[in-house]
Amino acid sequence: MQWLRRGTAVVVLLACGLGPARAADAPQSGAAAASSTPAPAAYSAQGADTCLACHGGDTTVTGIFRTKHARPNDPNGPFGHGGLQCEACHGPGGAHAAAGGGPLAGMRDFGPKALTPASQQNAVCLGCHQSNAAHDWASSAHAASNVACASCHDLHKPKDPVLTAATQIEVCTSCHQAQHTDLLKPSHHPMSEGKMACTACHSPHGSTAPAQLVRNTVNETCTSCHAEYRGPFLWEHQPVTEDCTSCHQPHGSVQPALLKLRPPFLCQTCHEGAGHPSIANTPQGLAGGTSSAYLLAGGCINCHSQVHGSNNPSGRALMR
Ligand code: HEC
Ligand code: HEC
Ligand code: HEC
Ligand code: HEC
Ligand code: HEC
Ligand code: HEC
Ligand code: HEC
Ligand code: HEC
Ligand code: HEC
Ligand code: HEC
Repeated sequence: MQWLRRGTAVVVLLACGLGPARAADAPQSGAAAASSTPAPAAYSAQGADTCLACHGGDTTVTGIFRTKHARPNDPNGPFGHGGLQCEACHGPGGAHAAAGGGPLAGMRDFGPKALTPASQQNAVCLGCHQSNAAHDWASSAHAASNVACASCHDLHKPKDPVLTAATQIEVCTSCHQAQHTDLLKPSHHPMSEGKMACTACHSPHGSTAPAQLVRNTVNETCTSCHAEYRGPFLWEHQPVTEDCTSCHQPHGSVQPALLKLRPPFLCQTCHEGAGHPSIANTPQGLAGGTSSAYLLAGGCINCHSQVHGSNNPSGRALMR
């Protein structure tokens, strides 16, 4: 089996005096590190093999051997030569193993329900992932709310669900109920269909943009896909240049086209009805008093069809 091969790595590990990684981790082994006994005592004698003697029958645990973390010749990974294997993440497990399991005895557990505080869990991950994943982590809403890396990441699963569009939604909406509700509305981005993930628009580890968006602004994010609305247009419609979400709800809506409200009501949140054909029964209306037509179907956009902006020389009123 796979971990038997790894037994060899453990022997090498022991022969090398356990390598720099263990020395660096030693202070976390608490009392053992401070005593005259060398720090390694707090670690299990045989690395992963010790753990697997008890946990090896649990396929949810051994799934990790089919992930990138278990690559035996990755010098930066937990299972590379000199790596602490299971204990690189879980911390020294000697006492836990000696006690026949049970209490964590100075080890770490992970995830939202873990006894180990999120900040301590995350520090272990960040020890290896400072440069890539966690660039903006420290200033993110997730870090500020003590969300653990392992609340999103499932490291023992051969396929971490949060890394795949089709399964990511479930992970995110386990906490974000409001977005889950939105996704079920008739108009939505094809997320529940598994074709698009939250990370099409959001950086899960944080970003300098509002709402952790992947681009600097809402509009840059939207027009990275919807390029036809990027502009500039000869005749701009001010709210479109400013913020797509003044009319659209990114996560889902009961109105068509992800609109917040149906026209004319959408338009009338900003434009006064008075003096314009849009109000019902205006005798002076452009259509000679039967202006109720303006309020039907597309309402305003029956005439003002170029609501995102116009490049027509006579498109000032966004009608062509
Ligand atoms: C003598 C058997 C034994 C050995 C050896 C052992 N464990 Fe355990 N471990 C257990 C038992 C029993 C539990 C508590 C029941 C459970 O949650 O599975 C446990 C619990 C855990 C938990 C907490 C699980 C949870 O639900 O939060 C972790 C993490 C863990 N062990 C990791 C390790 C690691 C890493 C090693 C090797 C350093 C190791 N164990 C060695 C028996 C053992
Ligand atoms: C001992 C160093 C080390 C520790 C500790 C560590 N990782 Fe990793 N991690 C790696 C390496 C090396 C890779 C492989 C990078 C690559 O080649 O893409 C990796 C890959 C990953 C990946 C990408 C997996 C994939 O399939 O693409 C995720 C997600 C990840 N780590 C999260 C975590 C989290 C969360 C923690 C803390 C619970 C953690 N890591 C702890 C070294 C580490
Ligand atoms: C809110 C959920 C969430 C949290 C919390 C989270 N991640 Fe991730 N992580 C993701 C997603 C989603 C991806 C895939 C990135 C993508 O598709 O843009 C990812 C990708 C990664 C990768 C592989 C890609 C890369 O950039 O190399 C690593 C490594 C990683 N995360 C580590 C971490 C670490 C370390 C932490 C904690 C400090 C953490 N993650 C916290 C959701 C999360
Ligand atoms: C890269 C970091 C990392 C390594 C290496 C690692 N684990 Fe884990 N372990 C985690 C995280 C994170 C969790 C929380 C659940 C998850 O992400 O799948 C966890 C969960 C567990 C659990 C609890 C499982 C449960 O939910 O009931 C046990 C037991 C465990 N690990 C044992 C081990 C053993 C044994 C090894 C070595 C073969 C090991 N771990 C290697 C990070 C790691
Ligand atoms: C363990 C729970 C949890 C999970 C899982 C989770 N989040 Fe969050 N998220 C939070 C908390 C807590 C906050 C901060 C409070 C709030 O805004 O609700 C937050 C905030 C956010 C914000 C607002 C950021 C801001 O600056 O206003 C976004 C966007 C976000 N999360 C996206 C995601 C995405 C995408 C995923 C999946 C990849 C995800 N979250 C997974 C708990 C979670
Ligand atoms: C099409 C782009 C897009 C996608 C896909 C997307 N979001 Fe958002 N999200 C946004 C925008 C834009 C905002 C900021 C404006 C707003 O709040 O409506 C936002 C805001 C948020 C917020 C903060 C809300 C608040 O009230 O502060 C959370 C949380 C969030 N999104 C979670 C998610 C989750 C979870 C997913 C996946 C199920 C997701 N988003 C998918 C564009 C997107
Ligand atoms: C990653 C690419 C991507 C990003 C980013 C993106 N969209 Fe979309 N958008 C799509 C796809 C794909 C569809 C579905 C098209 C289809 O079904 O034909 C869509 C559909 C729409 C629709 C029509 C929905 C309907 O029910 O007819 C609107 C409105 C929309 N997006 C607005 C936005 C806004 C606003 C943003 C920014 C917050 C945004 N999109 C960001 C890819 C994206
Ligand atoms: C002033 C309100 C308003 C703003 C702001 C706005 N839109 Fe729209 N959008 C609409 C209306 C109204 C429709 C429905 C048009 C229709 O049915 O012909 C629509 C439809 C769409 C559609 C679907 C088109 C289709 O063919 O189904 C997309 C995609 C879209 N908008 C993207 C955007 C993007 C991207 C932005 C920001 C750059 C934006 N919108 C800003 C009002 C707006
Ligand atoms: C968030 C506020 C807002 C919403 C919603 C909105 N608009 Fe506008 N609209 C503006 C602003 C601001 C201007 C620029 C007014 C100016 O330059 O005097 C404008 C300009 C216009 C113009 C051009 C007027 C001119 O003389 O240049 C038309 C036509 C128009 N809007 C139609 C609509 C329609 C139709 C809708 C609904 C689909 C709509 N607007 C929704 C804010 C809004
Ligand atoms: C029957 C066609 C029609 C409908 C329906 C219609 N409009 Fe107009 N609208 C016009 C015409 C024609 C003008 C004048 C264009 C010009 O001056 O070149 C105009 C002008 C405007 C202007 C420019 C400022 C002004 O008052 O001159 C705004 C803003 C506007 N309409 C908003 C709306 C809104 C909001 C609705 C829906 C409530 C709406 N329109 C419905 C035909 C229509």
